[in-house]
Amino acid sequence: MNSRNSQVHTHSDPKVDFYDSTYNRFDDSIYCEIRREIWQEDFGQNGWITAQEQDQFIQWLSLGSGQRLLDVACGTGGPSLRIARKSGAHVVGIDIHRDGIRVAQRESARDGPAGVATFQLVDAQGPLPFDDGSFDAVMCIDAINHLADRTRVFAEWARVLKPGGRLLFTDPAIVSGLLAKDEIAVRSSIGFFVFVAPETNDRMLAEAGFQLTRKADLSEATAQVAADWHAARQKRSAELTRIESEETFQGQQRFLNVTARLAGERRLSRFAYLACRNEASHLIPAASQHCK
Ligand SMILES: C[S@@+](CC[C@H](N)C(=O)[O-])C[C@H]1O[C@@H](n2cnc3c(N)ncnc32)[C@H](O)[C@@H]1O
Repeated sequence: MNSRNSQVHTHSDPKVDFYDSTYNRFDDSIYCEIRREIWQEDFGQNGWITAQEQDQFIQWLSLGSGQRLLDVACGTGGPSLRIARKSGAHVVGIDIHRDGIRVAQRESARDGPAGVATFQLVDAQGPLPFDDGSFDAVMCIDAINHLADRTRVFAEWARVLKPGGRLLFTDPAIVSGLLAKDEIAVRSSIGFFVFVAPETNDRMLAEAGFQLTRKADLSEATAQVAADWHAARQKRSAELTRIESEETFQGQQRFLNVTARLAGERRLSRFAYLACRNEASHLIPAASQHCK
């Protein structure tokens, strides 16, 4: 660790309002401007994903017309709609946030080709309201760290996937270096948060009946997005403080600042995992099975 660690604020760590304040005001011009400044292509994302990354994910998942993709924790649905438009797949987006799903349903009705993406309010920690084998692919971007019981979550994803179906998720909370207590507190200040050791997802995927086919370190791009997000908001600090309150504005800035630093220094890494569901029952050892 370096001397900059001493700059981390020590607070009694109240929860920082991140999703409520963003999803409630998603269309306000100041938030659209900020997103355009960070991502150039603003497709309504509310995490670390870039257009370039998403294009790569569509390719990895071999998504095409007639296929069905489940987007777990889809936020306001912009990323799901972009995938539907680009790939021709039918996307079902689910999220626990009422305002996120409200925006997603409105956007889908407004500019999505009819029936191409649908959105439902669902807690991804519980049983999913979908039949066994009803999806060709499952995706979850920057949200697995908010779900408590990963064994159960992976089991549900395996259940709703067809045999041989593909899974792609990003995990922005892989502990790959030294983390100070205050850094962990600020990084997790936006809500429930799970941090994992580098090989944990690999092991748990195998136990759930998946074969890991690709793993990519996306930390550098994540650090850049977080730093750009922080800078774009800082430039508009007076107006944002008025809209969000001083406490929320400062809390989000600390969160973005720590995210940029930890990812940039590879102490908290963000990885993408591509896996496929074994063809047969997951009780058969993964080594003796083949994904297509
Ligand atoms: C960082 S955002 C990512 C949103 C979107 N995937 C994207 O890339 O823009 C994380 C999302 O996880 C959702 N989330 C958190 N806990 C959840 C749960 N138990 N079930 C479903 N969604 C959840 C939040 O509401 C939020 O929309």
